Amino acid sequence: MVERSQFAEFESRSKRADALEDIGSNTSPGETIGDIIGRRFNRRDVLRGALTATALATLPGYALLNPDEALAQAAAKAAFDFKEVTAGSDENHVIAEGYDADILIRWGDPVLPGAPGFDPLKQTAAAQKLQFGYNNDFVGYLPMPGAANGSQHGLLCVNHEYTNEELMFPGMGGPQQIKKNAFSKMTKELAEIEMAAHGGAVIEIKKDNGKWQVVPNSKYARRIDANTPMDITGPAAGHARMKTKADPDGRRVLGMVNNCAGGMTPWGTWLTCEENFNGVFWGSADGHPEAAKLRRYGAPSNQYNWGAYFDRFDVAKEPNEPNRFGWILEIDPLDPASTPKKRTALGRVKHEGAAGATSKDGRYVVYTGDDERFDYVYKFVTAGKIDPANRAANLDLLDNGTLFVAKYNADGSGEWLPLVFGQGPLTAEKGFTSQADVLIDARLAGDALGATKMDRPEDVEASPATGKVYVMLTNNTSRKPGQEDAANPRANNKFGHIIEMSPEDGDHASTRFRWEVLVRCGDMSDPKVGATFNPATTKDGWFGMPDNLAFDSRGRLWVATDGMSKKSAGRNDGLWAIETEGALRGTSKGFYRVPEGAEMCGPCFTPDDETLFLAVQHPGEGDEAAGEGSFENPATRWPDFKPDMPPRPSIVVITRKGGGKIA
Ligand code: FEO
Ligand code: CA
Ligand code: CA
Ligand code: CA
Repeated sequence: MVERSQFAEFESRSKRADALEDIGSNTSPGETIGDIIGRRFNRRDVLRGALTATALATLPGYALLNPDEALAQAAAKAAFDFKEVTAGSDENHVIAEGYDADILIRWGDPVLPGAPGFDPLKQTAAAQKLQFGYNNDFVGYLPMPGAANGSQHGLLCVNHEYTNEELMFPGMGGPQQIKKNAFSKMTKELAEIEMAAHGGAVIEIKKDNGKWQVVPNSKYARRIDANTPMDITGPAAGHARMKTKADPDGRRVLGMVNNCAGGMTPWGTWLTCEENFNGVFWGSADGHPEAAKLRRYGAPSNQYNWGAYFDRFDVAKEPNEPNRFGWILEIDPLDPASTPKKRTALGRVKHEGAAGATSKDGRYVVYTGDDERFDYVYKFVTAGKIDPANRAANLDLLDNGTLFVAKYNADGSGEWLPLVFGQGPLTAEKGFTSQADVLIDARLAGDALGATKMDRPEDVEASPATGKVYVMLTNNTSRKPGQEDAANPRANNKFGHIIEMSPEDGDHASTRFRWEVLVRCGDMSDPKVGATFNPATTKDGWFGMPDNLAFDSRGRLWVATDGMSKKSAGRNDGLWAIETEGALRGTSKGFYRVPEGAEMCGPCFTPDDETLFLAVQHPGEGDEAAGEGSFENPATRWPDFKPDMPPRPSIVVITRKGGGKIA
């Protein structure tokens, strides 16, 4: 989620940003090859192509070669093999030559039996509950147990992160107009459609005759939305601060909202996490019994007016309801009757994702970023071990364990600090009276522990090949000169950066790590930007605002971006392949770009790397000042391109023409 949430965050964050205590050191540890070449590049005003070869020839391993040979040898070691797409902005999407990009499912397409055909002018909440929701974000693939080919038949778990009233409903105007008009065009019925379009979906999909299709009337098909009953489990379940009028036990909540990225566990469950939940809360923190805690989460931020119709979203009427959102959920896609569980042991923040890895001794480790300016990177380590032979034994593994927050030291070392009640500053004196408090107020616990304030941590995920953990830091234009630190080295960080962490002893349960910046993102041709892509990257290959990431089965890194447009970057968002090893480390290439107004989400490969699923979110957003980006005048009508059909967030399937592994 970009513009809308960023705008709201900017408002809600400005006070906190002013109070920041970061002392800028601006000392970048462990320079990468990209850093070194980038510095030379900035200093020399020569043609980039010639410089690339010359710079490479000065690097270890290439020093004895002439520049042309150095370049040729480095290129031969590239991990990716495809012709990059030209950077730009179009109403349609663009895929690298030699690949097909097909639409699998769109907003409004049927998921459950009886779903009516999609009619944007006659939409109802009842129809939406049976149809694919809005703004698909995370995509997880689970091979169908027992399938003849698990890479050609499986379940897709998809998050529906949020809704765009201005693109979904006629007559609303643009997003700023909607807020300016105090939601005067909204109705309870439209709010109910929005609630039904949030959440997630499980669909069964199969590749027949070379084409992927949704299996109709699958017994696994499921829609989960902002009113689906769910259990609250783990240390905060039943705590007084989790109780409401509708739920005096504090163990049952209706719905999940703003589910951004996520992960799939080795035991085949779907982790989906609530991000900008503060947006669905209505009213003011003034007069709230826990006003300061509410404000630390930016709630309420009145991005939706559901609270005008439903008391539980009005913080004056139901003060504890915000405590019941902002969690990581676990859902069993193989059991459509199962109740989703909010796993409180993993802490309450504005979670971007929840990607896991296994520790050396077999415990499960979930990495997550808290996507807010100056917020933190976390991981959770289970107390118990995964039992590969007994799926049922793993189903509540995530209720017990330790949550940690990351501290990045300037010397390239780092520590994971435990969020455990009674340890360090997490005591009654500091306002924490139980582990439930520590988890409900995880941000405040991170503050007390002195965690490193990051430039909006999005996806955090470990490479299955090397065990190195990659952190997408999407941007932070609120970081002022003097607030830079080693891990967040740029003030007014418009384009973000990527940090690479190496757990001590290669063990994801370790409390220590080494880290370095893989790449500072942005336009390499503008020295003021300070981007550090490997100069083997072409003018088309650089990107900004890294958000989601995926690894293919070979452990190659793919990055999805959120926030680039013709206006902000001269190019749309997309999926980028970035080298992480060898002399080409830090070289990026564009593989796919989204249509106008969209962001790129959900990259996900089948186990055989022959299919790549992508999620195109909010196509059609546009320049509101220019009258663009509304139901009547979207920036694109992708993917249908019919005059009476609004743009539709969709899942795209990428395959290689004639078959074979991707890239
Ligand atoms: Fe929903 Fe952090 O992007
Ligand atoms: Ca984002
Ligand atoms: Ca998103
Ligand atoms: Ca995201």
